[in-house]
Amino acid sequence: MSAAAGPAQLTVENVGVTFGGVRAVEEVSFTAEPGAIVGLIGANGSGKTTTLDMVSGLVTPQRGTVRLDGADLAEYLPEERQRVGMVRSFQDCRLYPELSVFDVLMLCEDVKHEVAVVPTTLQLPWARRAEKRKQVAVDQVIGAFGLERFRHHRTAELSTGTRRVVDLASIILAEPRLLLLDEPTAGIAQREAEAFIPLLRRIHEVADTTIVLVEHDVPLVFALCSTVVVMERGRVVAAGPPEVVRADPKALTAYLGASDEALYASGPSGAGSAGGSGNEHSESNERG
Ligand SMILES: Nc1ncnc2c1ncn2[C@@H]1O[C@H](COP(=O)(O)OP(=O)(O)O)[C@@H](O)[C@H]1O
Ligand SMILES: [Mg+2]
Repeated sequence: MSAAAGPAQLTVENVGVTFGGVRAVEEVSFTAEPGAIVGLIGANGSGKTTTLDMVSGLVTPQRGTVRLDGADLAEYLPEERQRVGMVRSFQDCRLYPELSVFDVLMLCEDVKHEVAVVPTTLQLPWARRAEKRKQVAVDQVIGAFGLERFRHHRTAELSTGTRRVVDLASIILAEPRLLLLDEPTAGIAQREAEAFIPLLRRIHEVADTTIVLVEHDVPLVFALCSTVVVMERGRVVAAGPPEVVRADPKALTAYLGASDEALYASGPSGAGSAGGSGNEHSESNERG
Protein backbone atom coordinates (compact mmCIF):
# COMPACT_ATOMS: atom_id res chain seq x y z
CA MET A 1 0.00 0.00 0.00
CA SER A 2 1.44 3.36 -0.93
CA ALA A 3 1.38 6.16 1.61
CA ALA A 4 -1.59 8.12 0.26
CA ALA A 5 -2.53 11.55 1.56
CA GLY A 6 -5.78 12.68 3.16
CA PRO A 7 -8.08 10.91 5.62
CA ALA A 8 -8.35 7.12 5.28
CA GLN A 9 -11.38 4.85 5.21
CA LEU A 10 -11.42 2.13 7.86
CA THR A 11 -13.59 -0.95 7.41
CA VAL A 12 -13.88 -3.48 10.22
CA GLU A 13 -15.71 -6.64 9.11
CA ASN A 14 -16.88 -9.33 11.54
CA VAL A 15 -13.69 -9.27 13.62
CA GLY A 16 -13.50 -11.41 16.72
CA VAL A 17 -10.95 -12.77 19.18
CA THR A 18 -10.96 -15.04 22.23
CA PHE A 19 -8.31 -14.87 24.96
CA GLY A 20 -8.10 -18.23 26.70
CA GLY A 21 -11.75 -18.83 27.43
CA VAL A 22 -12.77 -15.16 27.31
CA ARG A 23 -14.57 -14.00 24.18
CA ALA A 24 -13.20 -10.46 24.29
CA VAL A 25 -14.75 -9.55 20.93
CA GLU A 26 -17.48 -11.79 19.55
CA GLU A 27 -18.21 -10.10 16.22
CA VAL A 28 -17.74 -6.44 15.40
CA SER A 29 -18.30 -4.57 12.13
CA PHE A 30 -18.27 -0.85 11.45
CA THR A 31 -16.96 1.60 8.89
CA ALA A 32 -15.27 4.93 9.47
CA GLU A 33 -15.64 6.95 6.29
CA PRO A 34 -12.76 9.25 5.32
CA GLY A 35 -12.81 12.28 7.61
CA ALA A 36 -15.44 10.87 10.00
CA ILE A 37 -15.15 10.85 13.77
CA VAL A 38 -16.50 7.50 14.97
CA GLY A 39 -17.12 7.02 18.69
CA LEU A 40 -17.04 3.60 20.32
CA ILE A 41 -18.98 3.43 23.59
CA GLY A 42 -20.14 0.62 25.85
CA ALA A 43 -19.78 -0.73 29.36
CA ASN A 44 -16.43 -1.64 30.85
CA GLY A 45 -15.29 -4.96 29.34
CA SER A 46 -17.53 -4.74 26.25
CA GLY A 47 -14.49 -5.11 23.94
CA LYS A 48 -13.73 -1.53 22.86
CA THR A 49 -10.00 -1.56 23.56
CA THR A 50 -9.60 -5.04 22.06
CA THR A 51 -11.35 -3.79 18.91
CA LEU A 52 -8.88 -0.88 18.66
CA ASP A 53 -6.03 -3.35 19.28
CA MET A 54 -7.18 -5.42 16.30
CA VAL A 55 -7.28 -2.28 14.14
CA SER A 56 -3.80 -1.17 15.19
CA GLY A 57 -2.42 -4.71 14.84
CA LEU A 58 -1.52 -5.18 18.50
CA VAL A 59 -3.98 -8.10 18.64
CA THR A 60 -4.46 -10.47 15.70
CA PRO A 61 -8.14 -11.16 15.04
CA GLN A 62 -9.07 -14.85 14.93
CA ARG A 63 -11.78 -14.02 12.44
CA GLY A 64 -12.83 -11.14 10.23
CA THR A 65 -10.88 -8.46 8.37
CA VAL A 66 -9.62 -4.93 8.94
CA ARG A 67 -9.26 -2.80 5.80
CA LEU A 68 -7.67 0.57 5.20
CA ASP A 69 -8.95 2.17 2.00
CA GLY A 70 -10.19 -1.27 0.99
CA ALA A 71 -6.83 -3.04 1.46
CA ASP A 72 -6.74 -5.99 3.86
CA LEU A 73 -4.26 -5.25 6.70
CA ALA A 74 -3.91 -8.88 7.88
CA GLU A 75 -0.24 -9.04 6.85
CA TYR A 76 0.64 -5.61 8.29
CA LEU A 77 2.59 -5.42 11.53
CA PRO A 78 1.72 -2.53 13.90
CA GLU A 79 4.75 -0.48 12.73
CA GLU A 80 3.78 -1.05 9.10
CA ARG A 81 0.29 0.20 9.89
CA GLN A 82 1.89 3.34 11.31
CA ARG A 83 3.77 3.83 8.07
CA VAL A 84 0.51 3.89 6.09
CA GLY A 85 -0.82 6.62 8.37
CA MET A 86 -2.44 4.81 11.29
CA VAL A 87 -1.58 6.56 14.54
CA ARG A 88 -2.56 5.39 17.99
CA SER A 89 -2.67 8.03 20.74
CA PHE A 90 0.83 8.57 21.99
CA GLN A 91 1.57 8.44 25.65
CA ASP A 92 5.21 8.95 24.84
CA CYS A 93 5.96 12.17 26.62
CA ARG A 94 5.66 10.51 29.99
CA LEU A 95 8.59 8.36 28.89
CA TYR A 96 10.75 11.49 28.86
CA PRO A 97 9.84 13.21 32.13
CA GLU A 98 13.03 15.28 32.10
CA LEU A 99 12.50 16.74 28.64
CA SER A 100 10.73 20.03 28.03
CA VAL A 101 7.51 20.21 26.04
CA PHE A 102 9.46 21.74 23.14
CA ASP A 103 12.07 18.96 23.21
CA VAL A 104 9.47 16.18 23.38
CA LEU A 105 7.70 17.61 20.34
CA MET A 106 11.02 18.02 18.49
CA LEU A 107 11.67 14.36 19.23
CA CYS A 108 8.36 13.41 17.58
CA GLU A 109 9.46 15.29 14.48
CA ASP A 110 12.83 13.54 14.56
CA VAL A 111 11.18 10.13 14.63
CA LYS A 112 8.99 11.05 11.68
CA HIS A 113 11.77 12.41 9.50
CA GLU A 114 14.45 10.05 10.80
CA VAL A 115 16.96 12.85 10.50
CA ALA A 116 20.44 11.38 10.64
CA VAL A 117 22.49 12.52 13.60
CA VAL A 118 25.73 13.06 11.72
CA PRO A 119 24.66 15.63 9.10
CA THR A 120 22.77 17.61 11.76
CA THR A 121 25.89 17.73 13.88
CA LEU A 122 27.98 18.80 10.92
CA GLN A 123 25.45 21.54 10.21
CA LEU A 124 25.28 20.90 6.50
CA PRO A 125 23.00 23.44 4.81
CA TRP A 126 20.17 20.97 4.10
CA ALA A 127 20.34 19.63 7.65
CA ARG A 128 20.07 23.20 9.00
CA ARG A 129 17.07 23.77 6.76
CA ALA A 130 15.47 20.51 7.94
CA GLU A 131 16.12 21.54 11.55
CA LYS A 132 14.52 24.92 10.90
CA ARG A 133 11.46 23.28 9.29
CA LYS A 134 11.07 21.02 12.31
CA GLN A 135 11.20 23.99 14.67
CA VAL A 136 8.58 25.84 12.62
CA ALA A 137 6.28 22.78 12.70
CA VAL A 138 6.77 22.40 16.47
CA ASP A 139 6.20 26.13 17.06
CA GLN A 140 2.98 25.89 15.09
CA VAL A 141 1.53 23.10 17.20
CA ILE A 142 2.70 24.78 20.42
CA GLY A 143 0.75 27.86 19.33
CA ALA A 144 -2.29 25.93 18.07
CA PHE A 145 -2.64 23.97 21.34
CA GLY A 146 -2.05 26.90 23.69
CA LEU A 147 1.13 25.37 25.06
CA GLU A 148 3.22 28.57 24.87
CA ARG A 149 3.60 29.00 28.60
CA PHE A 150 4.60 25.34 29.03
CA ARG A 151 7.19 25.36 26.25
CA HIS A 152 10.16 25.06 28.60
CA HIS A 153 8.42 23.08 31.36
CA ARG A 154 9.58 19.54 31.93
CA THR A 155 6.74 17.15 31.05
CA ALA A 156 6.99 15.63 34.55
CA GLU A 157 5.78 18.98 35.97
CA LEU A 158 2.65 19.11 33.84
CA SER A 159 -0.85 18.19 35.00
CA THR A 160 -2.24 14.98 33.48
CA GLY A 161 -4.56 17.09 31.33
CA THR A 162 -1.80 19.30 29.97
CA ARG A 163 0.36 16.24 29.36
CA ARG A 164 -2.52 14.76 27.35
CA VAL A 165 -2.62 17.98 25.30
CA VAL A 166 1.10 17.49 24.57
CA ASP A 167 0.27 13.92 23.49
CA LEU A 168 -2.37 15.28 21.13
CA ALA A 169 0.01 17.92 19.79
CA SER A 170 2.51 15.15 19.05
CA ILE A 171 -0.23 13.35 17.10
CA ILE A 172 -0.53 16.33 14.73
CA LEU A 173 3.20 16.11 14.08
CA ALA A 174 2.77 12.44 13.10
CA GLU A 175 0.37 13.48 10.29
CA PRO A 176 -2.15 10.66 10.80
CA ARG A 177 -4.64 9.48 8.16
CA LEU A 178 -6.44 7.35 10.75
CA LEU A 179 -6.19 8.32 14.40
CA LEU A 180 -7.10 5.80 17.12
CA LEU A 181 -7.78 7.28 20.57
CA ASP A 182 -8.51 5.09 23.61
CA GLU A 183 -10.09 7.07 26.46
CA PRO A 184 -8.15 10.32 26.02
CA THR A 185 -10.01 11.89 28.96
CA ALA A 186 -9.49 8.99 31.40
CA GLY A 187 -7.96 10.12 34.66
CA ILE A 188 -8.05 13.84 33.99
CA ALA A 189 -10.03 16.50 35.84
CA GLN A 190 -13.50 17.33 34.58
CA ARG A 191 -12.57 20.94 33.83
CA GLU A 192 -9.76 19.72 31.59
CA ALA A 193 -11.95 16.99 30.06
CA GLU A 194 -14.41 19.63 28.88
CA ALA A 195 -11.62 21.38 27.00
CA PHE A 196 -11.16 18.18 25.00
CA ILE A 197 -14.15 18.68 22.72
CA PRO A 198 -12.81 21.84 21.01
CA LEU A 199 -9.32 20.35 21.15
CA LEU A 200 -10.31 17.14 19.35
CA ARG A 201 -12.30 19.18 16.82
CA ARG A 202 -9.19 21.22 16.12
CA ILE A 203 -7.08 18.07 15.72
CA HIS A 204 -9.65 16.70 13.33
CA GLU A 205 -9.56 19.90 11.28
CA VAL A 206 -5.85 20.57 11.33
CA ALA A 207 -4.72 16.96 10.81
CA ASP A 208 -7.44 16.27 8.21
CA THR A 209 -7.80 12.74 9.51
CA THR A 210 -10.35 10.01 10.22
CA ILE A 211 -10.74 9.40 13.96
CA VAL A 212 -11.92 6.36 15.93
CA LEU A 213 -12.46 7.40 19.54
CA VAL A 214 -13.10 5.06 22.47
CA GLU A 215 -14.48 7.15 25.30
CA HIS A 216 -16.44 6.63 28.52
CA ASP A 217 -17.62 10.26 28.47
CA VAL A 218 -20.86 9.69 26.55
CA PRO A 219 -21.84 13.39 26.19
CA LEU A 220 -18.41 14.07 24.70
CA VAL A 221 -18.92 11.28 22.15
CA PHE A 222 -22.40 12.51 21.21
CA ALA A 223 -21.14 16.08 20.85
CA LEU A 224 -18.14 15.21 18.74
CA CYS A 225 -18.82 12.12 16.63
CA SER A 226 -20.56 11.81 13.29
CA THR A 227 -21.15 8.09 13.95
CA VAL A 228 -21.61 6.37 17.32
CA VAL A 229 -21.06 2.61 17.69
CA VAL A 230 -22.44 1.03 20.86
CA MET A 231 -20.85 -2.21 22.04
CA GLU A 232 -22.15 -4.79 24.47
CA ARG A 233 -20.38 -8.05 25.35
CA GLY A 234 -18.19 -8.05 22.27
CA ARG A 235 -20.91 -7.12 19.79
CA VAL A 236 -22.27 -3.97 18.17
CA VAL A 237 -25.80 -3.40 19.47
CA ALA A 238 -26.44 -0.03 17.83
CA ALA A 239 -24.66 2.23 15.36
CA GLY A 240 -25.45 5.39 13.47
CA PRO A 241 -25.56 9.17 13.78
CA PRO A 242 -25.79 10.45 17.40
CA GLU A 243 -29.45 11.44 17.11
CA VAL A 244 -30.39 7.93 15.91
CA VAL A 245 -28.33 6.11 18.54
CA ARG A 246 -29.60 8.40 21.29
CA ALA A 247 -33.16 7.32 20.47
CA ASP A 248 -32.33 3.59 20.21
CA PRO A 249 -33.52 1.61 23.26
CA LYS A 250 -30.90 -1.13 22.67
CA ALA A 251 -28.19 1.49 22.85
CA LEU A 252 -29.71 2.96 25.99
CA THR A 253 -29.45 -0.24 28.01
CA ALA A 254 -25.95 -0.93 26.72
CA TYR A 255 -24.42 2.34 27.81
CA LEU A 256 -26.65 2.94 30.77
CA GLY A 257 -24.44 0.37 32.41
CA ALA A 258 -21.37 2.31 31.38
CA SER A 259 -22.38 5.74 32.38
CA ASP A 260 -25.92 6.46 33.51
CA GLU A 261 -25.17 9.91 34.87
CA ALA A 262 -23.38 10.74 31.65
CA LEU A 263 -26.43 9.62 29.71
CA TYR A 264 -28.62 11.79 31.87
CA ALA A 265 -26.31 14.73 31.16
CA SER A 266 -26.46 14.07 27.41
CA GLY A 267 -30.26 14.32 27.63
CA PRO A 268 -32.84 13.08 25.12
CA SER A 269 -33.07 16.57 23.61
CA GLY A 270 -29.32 16.82 23.27
CA ALA A 271 -29.39 20.09 25.18
CA GLY A 272 -26.51 19.06 27.40
CA SER A 273 -24.51 17.28 24.73
CA ALA A 274 -22.49 20.27 23.57
CA GLY A 275 -20.46 20.01 26.74
CA GLY A 276 -21.86 23.17 28.29
CA SER A 277 -23.99 22.57 31.36
CA GLY A 278 -24.91 19.51 33.37
CA ASN A 279 -21.54 17.91 32.94
CA GLU A 280 -20.70 17.17 36.54
CA HIS A 281 -20.71 13.46 35.84
CA SER A 282 -17.27 12.43 34.81
CA GLU A 283 -15.38 12.35 38.07
CA SER A 284 -17.77 9.67 39.30
CA ASN A 285 -17.49 7.68 36.06
CA GLU A 286 -13.80 7.80 35.84
CA ARG A 287 -11.94 4.58 35.53
CA GLY A 288 -8.39 3.64 34.84
N1 LIG B 1 -5.17 -9.97 27.17
C1 LIG B 1 -6.35 -10.39 27.66
N2 LIG B 1 -6.46 -11.61 28.23
C2 LIG B 1 -7.64 -12.07 28.72
N3 LIG B 1 -8.78 -11.36 28.67
C3 LIG B 1 -8.74 -10.14 28.12
C4 LIG B 1 -7.53 -9.58 27.58
N4 LIG B 1 -7.80 -8.35 27.10
C5 LIG B 1 -9.11 -8.14 27.33
N5 LIG B 1 -9.67 -9.20 27.93
C6 LIG B 1 -11.10 -9.35 28.29
O1 LIG B 1 -11.85 -9.07 27.13
C7 LIG B 1 -13.02 -8.33 27.46
C8 LIG B 1 -13.00 -7.01 26.70
O2 LIG B 1 -11.98 -6.16 27.21
P1 LIG B 1 -11.66 -4.72 26.65
O3 LIG B 1 -11.53 -4.80 25.18
O4 LIG B 1 -10.52 -4.20 27.41
O5 LIG B 1 -13.00 -3.94 27.03
P2 LIG B 1 -13.27 -2.36 27.14
O6 LIG B 1 -12.14 -1.63 26.50
O7 LIG B 1 -14.57 -2.17 26.44
O8 LIG B 1 -13.40 -2.05 28.61
C9 LIG B 1 -13.00 -8.16 28.97
O9 LIG B 1 -13.78 -9.19 29.51
C10 LIG B 1 -11.55 -8.33 29.32
O10 LIG B 1 -11.42 -8.80 30.62
MG1 LIG C 1 -10.82 -0.18 27.32
